[in-house]
Amino acid sequence: MEMEKLVSLCRRRGFLFQSSEIYGGLNGFWDYGPLGVELKRNIKNAWWQDMVTSHDDLAVLPGAPGSYEMTGLDCAIVMHPQVWKVSGHYDLFHDMMVDCRQKKERYRFDQLRGRWVAAKGQRLLITTLSEENEEAEIERAALKYFKLRAKETAQLEWDGDIVTLDTIAISDLDKVLAPGASEPGTLTEPREFNLMFETYCGAIRDEKSKAFLRPETAQGIFVNFKNVLDSSRVKVPFGIAQIGKSFRNEITPRHFTFRSREFEQMEIEFFCHPDTSRQWYEYWRDRRMQWYMDLGLASGRLRLRDHTPEELSHYSTGTADVEYAFPFMAKGVYGELEGIAHRGDFDLRSHSEGKLDPATRPLTVELGSDGQPIHRGSGKDMTYRDETTGQRYLPHVIEPSAGADRAALAFLCEAYTEDEAPDDQGKMQKRTVLKFHPRLAPIKAAVFPLVKKDGMPEIAREIYRALKRHVTAFYDEKGAVGRRYRRQDEAGTPYCVTVDGQTLADKTVTIRDRDSLQQWRVKIDDVAEQIVEKVNR
Ligand code: GAP
Repeated sequence: MEMEKLVSLCRRRGFLFQSSEIYGGLNGFWDYGPLGVELKRNIKNAWWQDMVTSHDDLAVLPGAPGSYEMTGLDCAIVMHPQVWKVSGHYDLFHDMMVDCRQKKERYRFDQLRGRWVAAKGQRLLITTLSEENEEAEIERAALKYFKLRAKETAQLEWDGDIVTLDTIAISDLDKVLAPGASEPGTLTEPREFNLMFETYCGAIRDEKSKAFLRPETAQGIFVNFKNVLDSSRVKVPFGIAQIGKSFRNEITPRHFTFRSREFEQMEIEFFCHPDTSRQWYEYWRDRRMQWYMDLGLASGRLRLRDHTPEELSHYSTGTADVEYAFPFMAKGVYGELEGIAHRGDFDLRSHSEGKLDPATRPLTVELGSDGQPIHRGSGKDMTYRDETTGQRYLPHVIEPSAGADRAALAFLCEAYTEDEAPDDQGKMQKRTVLKFHPRLAPIKAAVFPLVKKDGMPEIAREIYRALKRHVTAFYDEKGAVGRRYRRQDEAGTPYCVTVDGQTLADKTVTIRDRDSLQQWRVKIDDVAEQIVEKVNR
C-alpha cells in the first residue's frame, strides 16, 4: 500500500487533518476529523472495556498466575515538577540531536540513516530522510555529489548496508553528507535535547514556577498508588489504567501521526508481589499482543519483540515491544505500538525514598558525589501490607504502555484495501475499502432508501433512528446507491441497510456486508438486533 493514498483518504474522508492547517499547520500536531474521532474513541473504549470494565476479577484468565483486579485513574497533565526529577525525566529524558550547519536543520542522531560509498577516491556516508525509497534516494544523492550520470552508477562502490548515524565513530562525522547538503562535514557533534515541554504556573515566570507537560501518563499512577489503595478495596495484585494526553517535544516528528509532539497513551501499571512478577510480565506481554490480533492486526505485519539484555534499563528484568511494519518505514524496520516492561520496584521506590526539602526544590540538576543526578523522593511509605500473610513489601510493577494514535494508524494501515465491487449495473469496479474490525469502525451501519420516493425514505429514517439508539449510524439518500455503498466502504462501515421495493411488500430490507459483499434480507424489526450482535462480536 502506498502511504500517500492512505494519507489522502484520511484527509478527504475526515479521519485526520494537520493541526492549524489554515495557518500552514504545526509540525507534530494532528486533529482527528469526524470519522477519526470515532475510530480513536472506539480504540480507547475497546482498550478500557477489555482491560478494565469487562475484566473478570473473579476468574483466573488463561496464562495468568492468579486472579487480579483492575481500576482506573484520570490524572492532571501538569504535575509537581519533582515528579519528573524523581522519575528521571528531568535529567535523563533526552534524545541526542545533531544540527546541519548548512541546511539549518536538526536531526535525531539515532534516526538519520545512510550508507557508506566510495567514488573518485573519496569515501562518504550519504544520508537521507526518505525511508520509502531509501536506497534509491541515497544513490541519487551519491550520483549528484560525485557528479556522475545515472549510467555511471557502477563507479559507486557501496560498503555495507544502511546504518544509523549513532553507529558510526564521532571522528567520522566529517565524512557524513547530511540530507540535502552539498558538502560533507556540515553536522555538529551530537548534543542532548530534553523532550519535555515547559510551562509556568501562575503569574510569575521564573525557575520556581516552572512546570512540565507530562511526557507519559504513568507517573500520575505511581504517585497515586497509595491514594488508590487507601480509597478503594483493591488488593495486590491489581492494575491501574489511565488514558490521556502526553507531550514530547520530538526533534523530528514524522511518519504522519506515528511520531507526534502531542499524543494519547493508554497505560497500565500493574502491581504484584516480587516473587510472581516474572509470570505477570509474561502474562501481560502475551495478553497485549493478543489484543491487537483480536482487533484485526493479524496480517503478519505484527510482531512481539523481546528486548535484548543490552537494551534493558538497569532496573528492568524484561521488556517486550509490540511492533508493526508500517508501510512508510524502510524494509525490515518495525514501529513500536506498545512496550510491556517489567519495572521492578524502581518507580515506587524512587517516589518514596529520599526527603523532599521545600527549600531545595530547585529544578537545577543536583549531582551526588559520584557525579550522578540525585533523585529526591517524597519520603512517603509506598509499601503494601498483605492482610492475609502480614507481609509488608514494595510491589513490583509491570507496565503495558500503548499509544492510542499509533494504534489508530496501524489499524488504518491494516484496514486499507483496494479490491473490486459491482456497480449499479453489476459491473465490477475498483473500490477502496477500510476493512476495520466492526468494533473499531467509526460508523457501524448506514441506512439507505433505494430511491427517494414510494415511502422508502420514511421507512429508512425510522430504521436509522432505531439503530442510532444502539450504534453509530449514518443516513444517506443522495445519489446512486452504488456510490453510497462506495462512500461507506471508504469510511469502513461494516454494514449497509437498504430499503427497496420489496420492503413495501414484505417489511424486509437488505443488509450488505462490507467485506464479503454478500446481501441478505432481514425483517425490519430484527435489523437493530442483528447489527448490534454483529458489531459487538
Ligand atoms: N510509560 C512508558 C512510556 O511512556 P514509551 O515507550 O516512551 O513508554 C509508550 O511510550 C507508547 O506511547 C509507545 O509505545 C507509543 O505507542 C506511544 N508514543 C510514545 N511516543 C510517541 C510519539 N512521539 N508519538 C506518538 N506516540 C508515541
